[in-house]
Amino acid sequence: MRVLVTGGAGFIGSHVVDELAKKDPEVVIVVDNLFLGREENLVGASEVLGSKFELVKQDCADYPLMKKLIGNHKIDVVFNWAVIPLPASLEKPLWTWEQNIRMTQVFCELAREGELETLIHCSSSEAYGSGIGGAMPETHTLDPKTSYAASKAATDHLVQSYIHTFEIDASIIRPFNNYGPRQNEKTYAAVIPLTIIRILKGEKPIIHGDGDQTRDFVYVTDTAKAAIKMLESKNTRGKIVNIGSGRETTINEVIEQICSIMGYDGEIERTDPRPGDVRRHQADISLARQLIDYEPQVSFEKGMENTVDWFTKKFEDED
Ligand SMILES: NC(=O)c1ccc[n+]([C@@H]2O[C@H](COP(=O)([O-])OP(=O)(O)OC[C@H]3O[C@@H](n4cnc5c(N)ncnc54)[C@H](O)[C@@H]3O)[C@@H](O)[C@H]2O)c1
Repeated sequence: MRVLVTGGAGFIGSHVVDELAKKDPEVVIVVDNLFLGREENLVGASEVLGSKFELVKQDCADYPLMKKLIGNHKIDVVFNWAVIPLPASLEKPLWTWEQNIRMTQVFCELAREGELETLIHCSSSEAYGSGIGGAMPETHTLDPKTSYAASKAATDHLVQSYIHTFEIDASIIRPFNNYGPRQNEKTYAAVIPLTIIRILKGEKPIIHGDGDQTRDFVYVTDTAKAAIKMLESKNTRGKIVNIGSGRETTINEVIEQICSIMGYDGEIERTDPRPGDVRRHQADISLARQLIDYEPQVSFEKGMENTVDWFTKKFEDED
C-alpha cells in the first residue's frame, strides 16, 4: 500500500494516518498546506512510520504538483480529506466553495488518467441539509444550506460522475459530526472544542439559537477506522456510506455533558442562531453495518471524557 492523504495534518485526516500506520504501509505521504492542520498531529505516525512517512506542505489543489508527487512515490491510494471548513463558508462563501471543488477535481482527473488506483473521498452529512423523518439513509435528499455543504454535495457528485463515466475505482465515506482529540479549537472551531476551551479560559459557553438543534456525534477514531475499512472492502466501490453513531443529541445536551464533566455550573450565553445551521441530524448506519461491519466503538460519554481530558492537558501544557 502506497498512500497519499490530503489534509492529513488536520483533525480526522491525522487519525486516518494513525490507522494507516498500523497497517504496515510501504509509504504514507501527507499533503497539507497547514491552513488549519498542524505538524504536531502527525508526531505519533511519523515515529511509527519513520522514513516511510513524509509531510508535504503544499496545496493539494495544484494538479501538476500532485501528478508529480503521485508519480514519484508510485502512490496507488488517495484518501482525500483536505477541506476548508463550514465556519469559513459563513465569512468567505465563494472561496470555500472554490477551494473544496478544486481539491477534489485534481484527484478525479488523476484517477481518470490512471495515475492512482483507488480514491477514498470524504463527504459530509452537511450535504443532506436538515434531516427529514428521523435517521437519514444515504438516499436522503441533498439540500445543502451553506456553500461548504454545497461544495461537499458537489464533490460527491463529481466523484460519482467519474465513477459512472470513467469507471474510476472510488468510494465515498460520509461522516456525521466528529469530535475528539486534535479537533481544531482556534479559528473556525466547532462547538465541542470551542466550549471546552471557553470553560478552561473562565468564559461562558455559548449556545446559538435554542440549542434544540441535533447532531449525530461520532468519535473520531471510529470514523478513521471506518475510512480504512472503506479502502479494504471492495463492496464499497461506487457507493456513499454514512458514518455516525446512529444517535441524535441536542446541542443543549452536549453543552450539559461538557459542563458536567468539567464541573462548570455557571451561566450559559444564548445568542442568535447560526446562519445555515441544520436543525436535525441522525445517521442511518445500516449500510456501513452491512458493507464494512461497522459498529461505533466509543460511547458519547467515554468519548466526551477523553476529549475534555485531551484539551485540558493541551491547554495546561500551552499555559
Ligand atoms: N469534522 C467533522 O465533524 C466532519 C464531519 C463530516 C465530514 N468531515 C470531512 O472530513 C474531512 C476532514 O475534516 P476535518 O474536520 O478533519 O478538518 P480539518 O480542518 O481539521 O482538516 C482539513 C485539513 O485540510 C488542510 N487543507 C485545507 N486546504 C488545503 C489545501 N489547499 N491543500 C492541502 N491541505 C489543505 C487543512 O490544513 C487541514 O489540515 C473533510 O473532508 C470534511 O468535510 C468532517
